[in-house]
Amino acid sequence: MSAVHYELIGNIGVIRLNNPPVNALSQALREGLWGAIKNAQDDTSQALILLCEGRTFIAGADITEFGKPPQAPALSEVITEIENSHKPVIAAIHGTALGGGFEVALACHYRCALASAKIGLPEIKLGLLPGAGGTQRTPRLAGVEAALELITRGTPISAEKAESMNLIDRVIENDLLSGTLTYAHELIQRNAPTRRVRDICIDPASIPEGLFDDFRQRLEKRTRGQLAPQHIVSCLEAAVKLPFEQGLAKELDLFIECLLSSESAALRHLFFAERTATKIKGLPKDTPTREIKSVGIIGGGTMGGGIAMNFANAGIPVKLLEVSQTAIESGLAVISKNYSISMNKGRLTEGQKAHFLSLIQGTTNYSELAEVDLVIEAVFENMALKQEVFTKLDQSCKPEAILATNTSFLDIDQIAAATSRPENVIGLHFFSPANVMKLLEVVRGTKSADPVISTAIQLAKTINKTPVLAGNCYGFIGNRMLLPYNREAQLCLLEGATPEQIDSVMESWGMAMGPIAVGDLAGLDIGFKARQGLSDAERGDPKTYCIADVLVKMGRLGQKSGAGYYRYDPETRARVNDLEVLAIIEAQAEIQGIKRRKISNKEILERLTFALINEGANILEDGTAQRPSDIDVVYVYGYGFPAHRGGPMYYADNIGLAKVYESICAFHDRLSENCWTPAPLLARLAREGSTFASWADDSH
Ligand code: 3HC
Ligand code: NAI
Repeated sequence: MSAVHYELIGNIGVIRLNNPPVNALSQALREGLWGAIKNAQDDTSQALILLCEGRTFIAGADITEFGKPPQAPALSEVITEIENSHKPVIAAIHGTALGGGFEVALACHYRCALASAKIGLPEIKLGLLPGAGGTQRTPRLAGVEAALELITRGTPISAEKAESMNLIDRVIENDLLSGTLTYAHELIQRNAPTRRVRDICIDPASIPEGLFDDFRQRLEKRTRGQLAPQHIVSCLEAAVKLPFEQGLAKELDLFIECLLSSESAALRHLFFAERTATKIKGLPKDTPTREIKSVGIIGGGTMGGGIAMNFANAGIPVKLLEVSQTAIESGLAVISKNYSISMNKGRLTEGQKAHFLSLIQGTTNYSELAEVDLVIEAVFENMALKQEVFTKLDQSCKPEAILATNTSFLDIDQIAAATSRPENVIGLHFFSPANVMKLLEVVRGTKSADPVISTAIQLAKTINKTPVLAGNCYGFIGNRMLLPYNREAQLCLLEGATPEQIDSVMESWGMAMGPIAVGDLAGLDIGFKARQGLSDAERGDPKTYCIADVLVKMGRLGQKSGAGYYRYDPETRARVNDLEVLAIIEAQAEIQGIKRRKISNKEILERLTFALINEGANILEDGTAQRPSDIDVVYVYGYGFPAHRGGPMYYADNIGLAKVYESICAFHDRLSENCWTPAPLLARLAREGSTFASWADDSH
């Protein structure tokens, strides 16, 4: 079937678009749609319906075409053709009408949608703004304030909500085509006009004074320095103040500026990176997956509780196994409190909370796990304990059940060896808070079977996570890279920086939280305990964590004890600089024979980010990550790396591997030979003038 098909059903012309998988507006689709509208003007039809085949209505512009020379017809020309039609055009929406897809619908004279459909303008998530009239037509239908909210959030809304905002004219319950045909006949019967959104006027007097300035300020707090959000506000202001055509011209100018920005290029990279990460090299496409209808979780602490919520939210029942009834009750109480917080924010109803809670049942008895399809272990980070748990699971669970561990660092093969079914053992590494963070590292043991891996990847989608496959090594992808990053943060402290300087350098660069503040949030005792379990060789230079060790011994464990590197306001939890800590740092530097110096912000930034990149290169070369973009996904979705910088490996390619390599060599000569051994892959690519991305394209 060609991309666009036209048929007459009685006196209604039905234009069907078919461009799998998501009906993106490729050149062929634009041309076909433009032609179909044009041709239909002269036939016997009295109204036209625009309908899509496959799983969704148009999902937007074809993002793969961005950055390439434009090909006619432009989307704006197609949209004008639709709006100019002298017969009413009705969009019939199922799945999602997003971005350019919803802009096509806005150019139609009427819009019907299945009750399950969603509409939205998610361009902001790609560092863009709606560039085909979305910023001009949405406020004309929904009002300026609602349009500001919809476009700057970028989150799709339900058909019902869209109807209440005047963006959808009729919600259809069952059969979309027959429902829209009925609607079309009604329009013809009442001689309904070709109602063009562009003709609606917004009365400037109806806009509250200062609306745009206030909104800009609030938005800046949320979107820190990004281009697209502020440009969206300018477009909406133009929709109020300028005639339609001038508003469109302004929108196009600002859209192009966004499209050419490094910010948008990075976000588009991540869009594809996230989807590519789900493709597992060497795993045949038809690898079977197992159905996960029920789950067991061992350990209902910080992670176990959050993990349980993910499954309950997806409607999958959970058995939460703990050491005692008291431990079950305290785990369930935390889960209940978390749901209450969502309820108080209006994100959950009382009924939903009760339903989710009813799906999580506590137990102390392994026999209750006999029939579950998957178990995720989240007990303390201790190999002997984990092996004991896995031995019990092996004895209690059905043979085909998948046994997973949420370990942060430990050897999956050693854990699997405690069972008689290492092929069914895998790492499922969630990130804290597990009910919020998007990343799921899927760690492949030496013997993990293909169907177990493909089930884990599919399961991630069910529970709304972004999976990345990692090889089995100490810390996998994310935590392994974090070790040299944290090492450099600690060494900068000793050598002359303050906690505040390090955190503010990294936060103003875009990290969600600086490394020192993250330490306080996670609890300094966690790293302390982990270091106790390492050999001297694994622990590395003892000076690295000397400050943290002193703080732990003083009982300064971080936020949970009210003080760590910072003090915390008991009411607001705001962090406060602490001179006592500065004195500790200075004393430790003296003990270590280090003369503290002024460290520049640039040095801090380069030491921390280049440490990540160097380890990332090692991880690529030894195959722990499948590709550089997978590492980018791990860091953006699991570690608060700024999305608009695309992830550490993308960032490295952008600043140039030669520059990164030269700086690392300089650190090696000046700071430490042991810490700063340049990764061989980085050295090679830098010499060749190449990039991680092109190395990946060369079929690695
Ligand atoms: N352009 C090109 N390819 C796209 C695409 C798009 N707009 N949207 C999705 N795809 C591709 C994906 O890369 C993926 O390819 P792959 O199979 O080779 O990996 C495939 O379609 C399927 O996508 P998903 O895995 O995401 O499928 P889901 O069913 O999970 O989700 C979706 C479907 C909700 C439509 C989701 O794909 C999505 O959110 N797409 C992007 C929507 C968007 O951002 N639209 C705005 C584009 S910008 C724009 O329109 C500018 C305009 O204002 C001018
Ligand atoms: P936690 O200390 O909050 O919870 C552990 C829970 O396990 C406790 O409730 C304890 O009662 C229970 N438990 C201990 N022994 C048990 C047993 N034999 N049977 C059943 N339950 C038992 O620990 P947390 O933070 O949830 O960590 C759990 C695992 O998740 C660890 O392996 C950790 O490395 C990993 N992890 C932790 C992250 C974090 O940020 N806290 C992030 C990602 C992974």
